[in-house]
Amino acid sequence: MKILLLMGSMRQNGRTAEVTKAFEAMLTDRNASVEYLPLVKYDIKACTGCATCQNVLNAHGCVIRDDVPDIFEKVQSADAVFFTTPIYSWYCTTPVKSLMDRLVYMMNKYYGETRGGSFWAGKKLGIITTCGYPDHYGADLFETGIKRYAKHSDLVYIGHYNARDKGKQYAFFTEDDKARLTKFAEETVSALTNG
Ligand SMILES: Cc1cc2nc3c(=O)[nH]c(=O)nc-3n(C[C@H](O)[C@H](O)[C@H](O)COP(=O)(O)O)c2cc1C
Repeated sequence: MKILLLMGSMRQNGRTAEVTKAFEAMLTDRNASVEYLPLVKYDIKACTGCATCQNVLNAHGCVIRDDVPDIFEKVQSADAVFFTTPIYSWYCTTPVKSLMDRLVYMMNKYYGETRGGSFWAGKKLGIITTCGYPDHYGADLFETGIKRYAKHSDLVYIGHYNARDKGKQYAFFTEDDKARLTKFAEETVSALTNG
């Protein structure tokens, strides 16, 4: 069971990293093989919309030279992928959005002269977010977008965990939050074990 955590906060020791690392430990304790990628350390250029990849049906086909082809390989070899991100302007951070844009074209060959399929069909996709507002106002739009993204890509959406950052004067990632994350880790492992 291979799980890839694509951690998209600009802050490597911030709120999102804290929750993502706790999730990594919970999954590892449950015998999953987990890889944690702090995206800020990778060169992830924006998709230019050239659509060259759309006419390359047997490979990613992207002409941009950066770290995304390597991440493509990691995604390909994972059973489940999580985008983890602080909410910025009601969506994800720039590295996550750039990676999502690149992958949605490199993986899904829907718009070329000959229509191909989805390279990542059947993989599981989940999200972890942290945000300032209550979940239903801070993280809801990103979750809606991700559900559409998964459906479009023929991925299996396996859920969303959010922890609220009410500010420095308040406790973050409380015992209740940790208990909810433990449940989310258990559900993730169960979804992977039971297909
Ligand atoms: C530029 C910026 C934009 C933000 N936009 C939102 C937002 O739209 N909704 C929200 O609930 N929180 C928003 N926040 C709050 C962050 O999502 C929250 O503090 C998060 O836990 C920070 O995670 P980090 O420590 O990993 O950076 C924003 C924070 C920043 C710095």
